[in-house]
Amino acid sequence: MSNHLDFLLKQNRLWSQSVKEKDNEFFRDLAAQQTPKYFWIGCADSRVPANEILGLLPGEVFVHRNVANVVVHTDLNCLSVLQYAVDVLRVQHILVVGHYGCGGVNAAFQNTRLGLIDNWLRHVQDVRDKHRTRLMAIANPDRQLDRLCELNVLEQVLNLSETTIMHDAWARGQDVTVHGLIYGLEDGILHDLNMPVSTDNELLSYYEAAVDRLFTSAAWT
Ligand code: CO
Repeated sequence: MSNHLDFLLKQNRLWSQSVKEKDNEFFRDLAAQQTPKYFWIGCADSRVPANEILGLLPGEVFVHRNVANVVVHTDLNCLSVLQYAVDVLRVQHILVVGHYGCGGVNAAFQNTRLGLIDNWLRHVQDVRDKHRTRLMAIANPDRQLDRLCELNVLEQVLNLSETTIMHDAWARGQDVTVHGLIYGLEDGILHDLNMPVSTDNELLSYYEAAVDRLFTSAAWT
């Protein structure tokens, strides 16, 4: 057991050293305060790490991750991170990031029984059922899953934009925008799903237009 920790601790020393070689004051400056501009809500999948994908250093992105990047209105964990990000850190951009080939979305899609997590993934099944007719009209199962991964992002952008935290922030004129993005495991590329939300006016029709685009044209260009 300790052998394995030794490996990780050694890796950590090497990383710390390499950062200090580029900027000797890096950790000292960062320890004083964090001022990230971005808040990332993504999947817990080990292949989708926020900082590495964005090419950002510690201190540049505030992060919350859970299985299938779901924003639930009763999830005090997610809401607390959101509230801190918006009210205290005053982030300017909130990135809801899904990914293609998501195991959580796939399990939800296929009704796979995995245990306790089925209850969490029920939220993704709600997304599937909401768009069932359009999803079932797609012949290729891989493309169905791609669309559900994208739909799940748009749904969470909607959920997030409907929280009291976002309503209050926009009511007081705070400049903060919610974005939906999707990440490709196969090429490491992040795509914008073109649903930036910076006000709660007409939110539902804005969401519906973004959903329509997923089914009528390429989701991203
Ligand atoms: Co995932």
